[in-house]
Amino acid sequence: MSGPNDNYDPKQVAALSAESLDAMVAAALEAFAVASDPAALKEARLAHAGERAPIALANREIGALPPAARKDAGQRIGAARGRITEALAARQVEVDAAELERALVEETVDVTLPVDLAPQGAIHPITGLIDLMSDVFVAMGWEIAEGPEAEAEWLNFDALNISADHPARGESDTLFVAPADSHVVLRTHTSPVQIRSLLDRPLPVYVVCPGKVYRADEFDATHVPVFHQIEGLVVDKGITMAHLKGTLDHLAKEMFGDIRTRFRPNYFPFTEPSAEYDLECFVCHGASVGNPDAPCKTCRSEGWIEWGGCGVVNPRVLEAAGVDSSVYSGFAFGMGIERTLMFRNNAADMRDMVEGDVRFSRMLKGESR
Ligand code: PHE
Repeated sequence: MSGPNDNYDPKQVAALSAESLDAMVAAALEAFAVASDPAALKEARLAHAGERAPIALANREIGALPPAARKDAGQRIGAARGRITEALAARQVEVDAAELERALVEETVDVTLPVDLAPQGAIHPITGLIDLMSDVFVAMGWEIAEGPEAEAEWLNFDALNISADHPARGESDTLFVAPADSHVVLRTHTSPVQIRSLLDRPLPVYVVCPGKVYRADEFDATHVPVFHQIEGLVVDKGITMAHLKGTLDHLAKEMFGDIRTRFRPNYFPFTEPSAEYDLECFVCHGASVGNPDAPCKTCRSEGWIEWGGCGVVNPRVLEAAGVDSSVYSGFAFGMGIERTLMFRNNAADMRDMVEGDVRFSRMLKGESR
């Protein structure tokens, strides 16, 4: 080590010699020049201009020099660092520009390519099934009839021979439209369209009316307060219950293929006689009847499931609509579309039908149409 008053030879501190500083600069410039992307340049920067780069370590040795020599060495090292910093900045500009160029080329978006922006919807299975069932009748020459969902109380009840004290007219079953004296209800069935059709159309009448109906019902797996029915009405000369049975059997066959059906006596104020129309149970085909070892949940081991109501049009209904019941007779029927969808497609939960999830529609697509 030199004493404080010795003449100082810069070469004593090798790292600060002009040659070694030149070598550091040359190495740095070389490394920057070959670094061709941002990652490589970052590596070169850390190696040649970072805190642990040779030039930074050399800088620390200034303190070891005698005071008289520090100025010179400081200037040399400052100049060397300046060259390195400058070269790095220049190279950074080039590498960034190249990187941008690469990204522009590689990540080009062809804005002219066609895209499927809006997800496609699907026909709702209820709509599909309404079309399918209606088509069965249109194919036989029947017409589609319609009526409003907010319906005159008289058409929904009175004209159909449903008396003022009938339980179905209570608030627990029927949704009334305010004010009460408007005598407007949300139709509880599609049967008022029977009356509308008879009032509107010339005889004979062969119509089906699919549509929405409303009841003050629970919302669960088997009940929804808003659902769909399809109503059928024929009024012609000489119409009997046999025509009704033949018509419904044709519909059942179109919907479910070969299937056993039956009439079960029932009561509706607007038909006389009246019946429930049952289908053979799809699940057990009657095997559960009287067989406690193999009970069937679907038909509650009865072997049959109810599809809809029907009957011969009550002459009082014909008269209410101005039809001469001594000349004309008719039949009518009505069934739930949701129930039909449940039977046809094993759709166990009615709530799926109102949630509007397009996946439900897609799942049943093609099956209900
Ligand atoms: N309207 C009846 C119901 O909603 C069904 C029905 C229609 C019954 C036509 C007989 C004739 O339950």
